[in-house]
Amino acid sequence: MPKVTIDGQTIEVAEGTSILHAARQLGGECVPPAMCYYTPLKGSGGKCRTCLVKVTKGSEKDPRPMPKLVASCQTMVMDGMEVASKSDQAVVDARKGVVEFLLLNHPLDCPICDQAGECHLQDLAFEHGSANTRYEFERRTFEKIDIGPYIKLHMTRCILCYRCVYTANQITDNRVHGIIGRGDHAEISTYIEKAIDNDFSGNVIDVCPVGALTDRTFRFKSRVWFLKPMDAHRDCDKCCGKTTVWVSGEDIYRVTARKDKYGEVEEFICNTCRFEKKSASDWVIEGPRAIERHSVISQNHYANGATTVV
Ligand code: SF4
Ligand code: FES
Repeated sequence: MPKVTIDGQTIEVAEGTSILHAARQLGGECVPPAMCYYTPLKGSGGKCRTCLVKVTKGSEKDPRPMPKLVASCQTMVMDGMEVASKSDQAVVDARKGVVEFLLLNHPLDCPICDQAGECHLQDLAFEHGSANTRYEFERRTFEKIDIGPYIKLHMTRCILCYRCVYTANQITDNRVHGIIGRGDHAEISTYIEKAIDNDFSGNVIDVCPVGALTDRTFRFKSRVWFLKPMDAHRDCDKCCGKTTVWVSGEDIYRVTARKDKYGEVEEFICNTCRFEKKSASDWVIEGPRAIERHSVISQNHYANGATTVV
């Protein structure tokens, strides 16, 4: 099994493990941020460059360093490899540059965005960004689009990570949305606004790292940090039926898939569970969901580190 050293910590990992996953096994500060890579989605990654690291030693056999920073989600570990992540100034600067780039066209509308509090871009900007932008040009804007009865697309907020496209490819039989155009003209298109009509289409909301795809049944109902996430399940003939329900008092405001600390869903859920089961009687409540993710959703995170929400 290959051994890799990341920011001075050595770990042995299975053959074919990416640097990103090796860092996740180590945990802590050395874990690079990832805005487009998503473990359950085959083929994802390699789009956003937030996960850049420096390979200071290629391997035991060929110790030459890699000439440029590499995307850790796409670069596999070699035996004897040495990697600098947060410990290297060039990496820190590059991540700062990527955040600036991702924010070129992204509106700073967090106060009215449903994703605020659990937005990966918000966290990325806080943890890896700089306070200023050098961009002077007009930002591109789009009209909001309803993608079917349940999903709203704010293209203005999209960072073109392709996760929703991979999700639709992987878990729905008939993808009717994708990215069209190139460069500054690239956008998510629903091919003449055709509705995504599929039992699992709501999962694109969960995988979207920003507030570009939002749940129309939850929009503007509450800020996420006012709600309590509870693990719940029901007998469902379409999906696993295991979800997180977000409650306030007796009311269920929204239903999502269960996510790990990297924001990756454990199991995809169907639209019936997500959009149509909003009564307490629909669910067997298991208990509070521990939110381990570093985000403002873990209240007081910035003062106290990861928090369990109860
Ligand atoms: S809509 Fe969201 S998930 Fe889809 S490409 Fe844009 S940012 Fe990524
Ligand atoms: S997470 Fe690696 S390139 Fe986006």
